[in-house]
Amino acid sequence: MLLAVGIVIPFGGCKEKGTITHNNLKAAIIGETTASAKYTAFAARAREEGYPQIAVLFEATAKAETVHARNHKAVLDQLGLKMEPFIPKFELKTTRENLLNAIKGEGYEVDTMYPDFMKAAMRDRIDPAISTFSMALHAEMTHKKFFTAALQALDAKTVTHLPLEYFVCSKCGNTFSSETVGAKCPLCGTHREKFFHFKG
Ligand SMILES: [Fe+2]
Ligand SMILES: [Fe+2]
Repeated sequence: MLLAVGIVIPFGGCKEKGTITHNNLKAAIIGETTASAKYTAFAARAREEGYPQIAVLFEATAKAETVHARNHKAVLDQLGLKMEPFIPKFELKTTRENLLNAIKGEGYEVDTMYPDFMKAAMRDRIDPAISTFSMALHAEMTHKKFFTAALQALDAKTVTHLPLEYFVCSKCGNTFSSETVGAKCPLCGTHREKFFHFKG
């Protein structure tokens, strides 16, 4: 009697090519849209608590996340796929807790979500998805750094030393402070005059 060992036949047959990346694009759109709504609310809370430097950082990053959501949606459209309606859900707490939440969220995107989504997009050979995930990944790294610096400043009672001005690349969502901004986006080459500008 012959036994087939080590061969797994998926229930329902082979998955349609690209399904994982299609779902990942939708998950990324939900994640970025939720992050944007969340950071807008976190900005208002930071302003109420008397931290305009942290408020403007949240306002700029909220914009960056809409750029990512827009770019991911453009790839979904290009693939002829529709997005199901959804409602962003998040918790609004104190600015310190909101910063911890933001650092955790960015950390997940940087360390797990986007690297995994990029690997799947490479396996699925969907180049525009690789590109949009990669651009978002690099911008999220800057967000994590800014939020971490803001939390350290809050704890050290040096918030007033933080920048009051931020810039967001309109093409890739890369984010800069008045101290890190240059003539062009190092990620995508967009000129500074096309950056969104935020001032506290
Ligand atoms: Fe981000
Ligand atoms: Fe850029």
